[in-house]
Amino acid sequence: MDWKPDKHAEMPVYKQIAAHLEHEIVSGALPPGAPLPPERTLARQYGVNRGTVSAAYEELRAAGLIQSLQGSGTWVSRHLWGVQKVPNWHQYTTGGAFLPALPLVRRIREAGWNPAIINLAKAELATEMIPTLEFERLTGGKMEAIDLGYVHPKGEPQLREAVSAHLRTHYGIAVSSEEILITSGAQQALHLISLCLLAPGDAIAMEGPSYTYSLPLFASAGLRLYQLSMDADGVIPDEMWTLYKKHRIRMVFLNPTFHNPTGTVLSEARRRQLLTVCRELRIPVVEDDAYGALALDEDKRPPLPLKALDSGDSVLYVGSLSKTIASGLRIGWLVGPRAVIERLADAKQQMDYGTSSVSQQLARLALEGGLWERQMERLRPFLTAQRDRMLAALDTHLRQEASWNVPAGSCHIWCRLNTPIDGLDLLEAAIQAGVLMTPGEVFGAEPGWMRLTYSWESSEALEEGIRRLAEAIKKAAPVRLSPCR
Ligand SMILES: Cc1ncc(COP(=O)(O)O)c(C=O)c1O
Repeated sequence: MDWKPDKHAEMPVYKQIAAHLEHEIVSGALPPGAPLPPERTLARQYGVNRGTVSAAYEELRAAGLIQSLQGSGTWVSRHLWGVQKVPNWHQYTTGGAFLPALPLVRRIREAGWNPAIINLAKAELATEMIPTLEFERLTGGKMEAIDLGYVHPKGEPQLREAVSAHLRTHYGIAVSSEEILITSGAQQALHLISLCLLAPGDAIAMEGPSYTYSLPLFASAGLRLYQLSMDADGVIPDEMWTLYKKHRIRMVFLNPTFHNPTGTVLSEARRRQLLTVCRELRIPVVEDDAYGALALDEDKRPPLPLKALDSGDSVLYVGSLSKTIASGLRIGWLVGPRAVIERLADAKQQMDYGTSSVSQQLARLALEGGLWERQMERLRPFLTAQRDRMLAALDTHLRQEASWNVPAGSCHIWCRLNTPIDGLDLLEAAIQAGVLMTPGEVFGAEPGWMRLTYSWESSEALEEGIRRLAEAIKKAAPVRLSPCR
């Protein structure tokens, strides 16, 4: 019995003792009828007060796991009738290594299932923008031709060829198919990097605020997150020096083109500067380019991706079809040196035996058959009109209360309230009013910021959503920081 309670843990000590003994009983280490030490003895053994052991025993008695009789001591119940013999799922669900989503994110998800709510938090294409009919035409409405076996761990070879050609044509990135790994969305690429290329305790730098911040997968991997501040041209590369000296940064995660949530585009000069700094520090850069193709203004095209400017193999480039074709396909890719691709493909194979072969073949058809280009011709005017509708609604309903950017691409407006409201209060007030948005705290911003997404709802719903949001903002109390986040 080497176990001892942890006096610095969040869980009260008596609960830890009760949970430990429960585990011993359920696992059979303490069999039915086995005597338990007197409270005083166990208290001495665990270095706690007798009252603490008393409270733990009381908890176990209440659960029917142990019995006591004055003068005869305490023992494990001889029978466990009435005692739940199912595993203690609470202990399991709170004990795993992978952390749950942030409370704000869970609330947004849950409220988003209500069909009556106007959803300005959902970063997906409106149903009518998913090219379902095009897919039907490309497959001839038949599935027989689709190979349903396990595919190559790096992804279907023809899809990788198609992605290689796509990256060359549309992004100026010249890589062979051997430097491409097909992933289940950009998200899995980020997950693989965090699990396979970094170790618990490693420090990473990212934009502040950042979509990356909103993903518990980095904290679950034990990584320490540090923010690079931003201005209108994106992150300030020189900050890397100080951040590196202070925290020994091991990797930089950036979303340089139409950054989520701020919409910022990292200027070309800064891209080059950042590559130089990272090359000197020998730090890899992960470039998340989920939105890169969604430029809306002809005169404000973004610069080439970092990967296209990188002459020294410092960049791991992450892309996806989620924001251009359909998020449900779960098709993304990671581009990097072959050794990295081999390592991550091996991990991916252990995790899921490859991304769905049906999705991969649909993705190949979309990239080879011109569907992607046709889709972009439809999508850009659609998103431009949606953006302009939301901007007009903001001007009508929130001119006095807030200010916002005019994004040159992608599907989010980054909005700041003149009088900040705590994110949870703001979200609850919005839900009451029948609208959803994403409070800035989700991305690690100060209270008072919010992200408004215009890709999902109809144009009329955008207008009505902003009207409802304005109503909620006018009713909500100004900032009162919640004690526990
Ligand atoms: C910046 C950014 N990167 C990655 C993702 C994940 O995309 P995917 O659906 O390809 O996993 C998102 C999703 O919203 C995103 O906003």
